[in-house]
Amino acid sequence: MNLLESMIQRAQSNRQRIVLPEGTELRTLQAADRLLRDGVADIILLGEAQEIMTIAREANLINIEHAIIVNPRAHEKKELYVELLLELRRKKGMTPEQAAQLVENPLYLACLMIKNGDADGEIAGAQNTTGDVLRPALQIIKTLPGVKVVSGAFIMLTQTAQYGENGTLLFADCAVMPNPTAEELASIALASAQTARSLVGVEPRVAMLSFSTKGSAEHEMIDKVREATRIARELNPALLIDGELQADAALVPSVGSSKAPGSAIAGKANVLVFPTLEAGNIGYKLVQRLGNAEAVGLVLQGMAAPVNDLSRGCSVNDIYNMVAITANQAIGLKQNSEPKQL
Ligand code: ACO
Repeated sequence: MNLLESMIQRAQSNRQRIVLPEGTELRTLQAADRLLRDGVADIILLGEAQEIMTIAREANLINIEHAIIVNPRAHEKKELYVELLLELRRKKGMTPEQAAQLVENPLYLACLMIKNGDADGEIAGAQNTTGDVLRPALQIIKTLPGVKVVSGAFIMLTQTAQYGENGTLLFADCAVMPNPTAEELASIALASAQTARSLVGVEPRVAMLSFSTKGSAEHEMIDKVREATRIARELNPALLIDGELQADAALVPSVGSSKAPGSAIAGKANVLVFPTLEAGNIGYKLVQRLGNAEAVGLVLQGMAAPVNDLSRGCSVNDIYNMVAITANQAIGLKQNSEPKQL
């Protein structure tokens, strides 16, 4: 059984309530139909019931009738969510009028449902940009206690079994923090290690990437990676982490042992932490396109409840898999302990 099949099975055996704010989007509905058919999650669709059911009927999506449909403009908890949003954002200057308007935005409503305990996780991004999906989640759901920043990881299923964990690696941050400080980068490394352990089911070996290996070059950008490595070690002395390492030194045993002799990570890394968003975002897309790897994600890490973002070019299958991943994150967070090996 591969990683995704295991996650689907785990989600089926402990059904979570996943809210899909883009409830009138065809690929989203097609995925919802299959998810409901397979019992992967309880699905909450945001949108007008009549519009959703018309699209579903035209596309012959017979299982959509089992979804819970919430119309953002008119539902019984609307006032309660306005109050909740105001309570959370009043100090930031939000007015009652703004709150009343924002709760009708499905991306805000989804986060408020999660915050209020009416849903366990969210998937969006088939129609909306990453920034638009993330902003309400950062404002309403916020980070886990002790976590500095939310970041975005991809599980890279490569065809190069000699690297990572049989070809599987976790890449981060590929989506959120444009230019993290050393402290933020350390937080991204710790969150990535946790994602590798809880979602991929591997013991993380974290490489802090740069364009230098162990002092082969000097630059303030390299200093940041060294400092982040130091902070991460200080925060979690048991974590297997090393830096700064170039990508080849992190992955290839012969290069690792010549450029970073004695390193426990060089040549064996299964988690790659990129120094900036440019590097992470470009890096995962190159591996995906040129290396023909499957990029599973975007998995947001460090959030107090799971909210995940899709690419606007996503397929029905991508949405299906991301719902299973989101459900697994929700299960892991609820159990408040690391999920067993997947
Ligand atoms: N972790 C935790 N909280 C955060 C983070 C973070 N990484 N970033 C922002 N916040 C919080 C802020 O503290 C603030 O909280 P507050 O309002 O309670 O004080 C709130 O979120 C809003 O912060 P802003 O900085 O005002 O939010 P902004 O909208 O400017 O930016 C965002 C946040 C959307 C994440 C932005 O950093 C961004 O657009 N990042 C890049 C996203 C992107 O385009 N990625 C590439 C595409 S994705 C892909 O290809 C897979």
